[in-house]
Amino acid sequence: MSEIINLPQTPGPIGIFDSGYGGLTIYSEIHRLMPQYDYMYIGDNARAPYGTRSFDVVYEFTRQAVNFLFRSGCHLVILACNTASAKALRNIQQLDLPGMDPSRRVLGIIRPTVESVGDVTKTRHVGVLATEGTIRSMSYPLEIKKLFPDIHVTGKACPMWASLVEADEHLTPGADYFVKRDVEALLAKDPMIDTIILGCTHYPMLLERVRQFVPENIQLLTQGEAVATSLQDYLSRHTSLEQRCTKGGTTIFYTTESDERFREQASRFLRQPVYTNKITLI
Ligand code: DGL
Repeated sequence: MSEIINLPQTPGPIGIFDSGYGGLTIYSEIHRLMPQYDYMYIGDNARAPYGTRSFDVVYEFTRQAVNFLFRSGCHLVILACNTASAKALRNIQQLDLPGMDPSRRVLGIIRPTVESVGDVTKTRHVGVLATEGTIRSMSYPLEIKKLFPDIHVTGKACPMWASLVEADEHLTPGADYFVKRDVEALLAKDPMIDTIILGCTHYPMLLERVRQFVPENIQLLTQGEAVATSLQDYLSRHTSLEQRCTKGGTTIFYTTESDERFREQASRFLRQPVYTNKITLI
């Protein structure tokens, strides 16, 4: 992507990218707060989950998606995926953007999530449930330490959860087995935890299942609201970028898997019919 390519200079939609369906939990909050903009969503369902993939592969897949969104007219892209934010964001910002168009922006979702945690935890013991890639990257403990050095962070990878959502098996008794196992393992590591970050955008789709196994005094933090508020604030401070985001209130959804399946699952989650196109990312 670092090669010079001719990107459209006219204003365009805001790009939102995830490995699959998870980014819809971020898109829905962004759209609820800012329905005036046009959006373009990519779910790389054919290659999901990303959580167990290597740094290089996640970087390459994310680069391809960002490239597609830029070529399609986006000036601003949100990586609505923690794994991509943890493993690809920095390289894209530092190695790729300068050679393409330094005025375009790619933003992740870990920082805005972390910013919201300081006010929530009382015990200053926070748990993070996320993909293997996100947990191994140590992005959450590192980012939290920068802002709130007094907070103790414990992570637990949940290798099955995103796959269960992708396979539409997340509301089954089979899913409960994995959810219970991983939640209990996290709480056994640190019984002082009073706040759990659901650090994968697929996990809000499992929220009710997670709630059953988490004691009531523990807060479950999802990311959508914090990301949407932070984006609104970002756009208000970056007016020249904001002016390059079109305001027609439309959304185009792209998937790398079956468009019919995406249409069905996304329409069910968003509670409205969505129009979907199949693409190939290269
Ligand atoms: N939804 C993504 C995240 O937030 C990735 C899940 C996956 O593909 O493993 O990490």
